[in-house]
Amino acid sequence: MSSGVKGLDDLLAGGYVEGRSTLLAGGPGTGKSILTWHFLFDGVEKGEKGILLSLDQTSDMITEDMTDFGWDPKEAVESGDLTILSGNLKLVPTETSYEYVISFDHPLLSEQPFTVPRLAELVRKKSAEVGAKRVVIDGLGPLLELAGNRSEIRQLVYGFIREIADGSNTIILTHELKASKTAQNDEMPFFICDGVLKLDTLYSAGDYIRTIRVVKMRGANHVMKRVMFKIGKEGIVAFPDARLPD
Ligand SMILES: Nc1ncnc2c1ncn2[C@@H]1O[C@H](COP(=O)(O)OP(=O)(O)O)[C@@H](O)[C@H]1O
Ligand SMILES: [Mg+2]
Repeated sequence: MSSGVKGLDDLLAGGYVEGRSTLLAGGPGTGKSILTWHFLFDGVEKGEKGILLSLDQTSDMITEDMTDFGWDPKEAVESGDLTILSGNLKLVPTETSYEYVISFDHPLLSEQPFTVPRLAELVRKKSAEVGAKRVVIDGLGPLLELAGNRSEIRQLVYGFIREIADGSNTIILTHELKASKTAQNDEMPFFICDGVLKLDTLYSAGDYIRTIRVVKMRGANHVMKRVMFKIGKEGIVAFPDARLPD
């Protein structure tokens, strides 16, 4: 299923594997969200409906940024081709301790305590209701915060993906890696997803170069090499033939 970025589809041996889950991992500002928008609008163009659940940007911000890149999210949302659910995680005190509340700015959803399984159920229901072929979960971070330890993270992410996946939809998730070299990154989502793409920025000769690499892709004969890309007025353009500095 096309990623919406031509040079990237070549790396992926055609695109993301249909019916599977792929993780886009990278530091902040590496282009994860924009890459998911290419995927969603490629679907809109082909009449394949999409859902975007964002846990770190408001719907207004998302709509504005998409519009800047030349897409028409308002039209896509009004026609039902695209559903945007966005919310952010807040810690609220209870009588005895704290609990996380995901407050959604979507008109259909009111503020209430959300457990991860409930959130997954909600996305699945919405996905079935609109007949979504493409589902994007932008920002796994807040979900991981709800887990206490590694085995809980595994269950949480695994359960989340399994709940949403219905065989007919293709799921793209993003995971923000901490920028500092010494930071501990939780790599559990890497093992759980069927595919992993890693986005990076390299510093070379006074310039920052954006790169993307397919780390794994179950069920596809993908290319391993690191490829340069740029983010411009029309979003992401990949340069599979450009030579990278050593
Ligand atoms: N119009 C633009 N032209 C060039 N680069 C842009 C433009 N808009 C955003 N960017 C770049 O894209 C980055 C944000 O990409 P995004 O997909 O939101 O990153 P992530 O989701 O990985 O944090 C910004 O930090 C900026 O470098
Ligand atoms: Mg983002």
